Amino acid sequence: MRLITYIKEPIKRMARKFRINIGLINTNEYTPWLNNEEFNLIYNKVQLNTLSTYHRCYELWNLIKESKKLSGEIIEIGTWRGGSGALIAYQSKKHCPNSKVYLCDTFKGVVKSGENDNNYYDGEHSDTSKSDVENLLKKLNLNNTKILEGVFPEETSHQIDQNEVFRFCHIDVDVYDSAKSIMDWIWPKLVPGGIIVFDDYGALNCSGIIKLVNEEKDKNDRLFIHNINGHAIFIKK
Ligand SMILES: C[S@@+](CC[C@H](N)C(=O)[O-])C[C@H]1O[C@@H](n2cnc3c(N)ncnc32)[C@H](O)[C@@H]1O
Repeated sequence: MRLITYIKEPIKRMARKFRINIGLINTNEYTPWLNNEEFNLIYNKVQLNTLSTYHRCYELWNLIKESKKLSGEIIEIGTWRGGSGALIAYQSKKHCPNSKVYLCDTFKGVVKSGENDNNYYDGEHSDTSKSDVENLLKKLNLNNTKILEGVFPEETSHQIDQNEVFRFCHIDVDVYDSAKSIMDWIWPKLVPGGIIVFDDYGALNCSGIIKLVNEEKDKNDRLFIHNINGHAIFIKK
């Protein structure tokens, strides 16, 4: 056995034991995100503008590509500084070039927090602005987006044509009441096969989102996937 193997094997065993992906060491797990140069390039450009994780961003990246098999527009509610939204818009430009990407935020932080939310209060994540998002989109040369500023759906959904349907929706709004009105608005507009991703299902400090997803997941008109990266995913039958 070569010396390098003596050194690599115990490190690989440790990495496997603690479920660590070490890019240069093969832990016998299929980890295509590590070698996806385009994803890593864009992720590095949006990283400072997102609160989402590397693995969740990779899932958005993949699901937008998957949604090219469907028709309709794309929407994110809860855009903050634009990180996940820009990543979505980048993939959409490439794979769904005829699709518009709506990016929606109050730019005044979380709204409608209430008794279902154990840890979130109105105004959290207000440290952003529409121009922060515009600047990021410009840096990535993205012109397929429309930013809607205000509480969604109440204040801004009228800016979307009533006849538009959606292939993909990313909901990242942290609290129950906001997420519920968004879910009620988007569901009838989602095409069959259409995908909804909740960012916050894996977060103990987002009790309102856990409650809402648990109320929604057993309905018969959908498939539900609890991805252990923290995403909750719904696919319309
Ligand atoms: C966790 S941040 C979003 C993070 C972002 N998706 C990222 O790149 O990681 C949550 C955002 O949701 C926004 N928000 C919450 N409820 C909303 C609503 N009903 N309409 C529009 N924006 C909302 C807040 O202003 C905040 O910027």
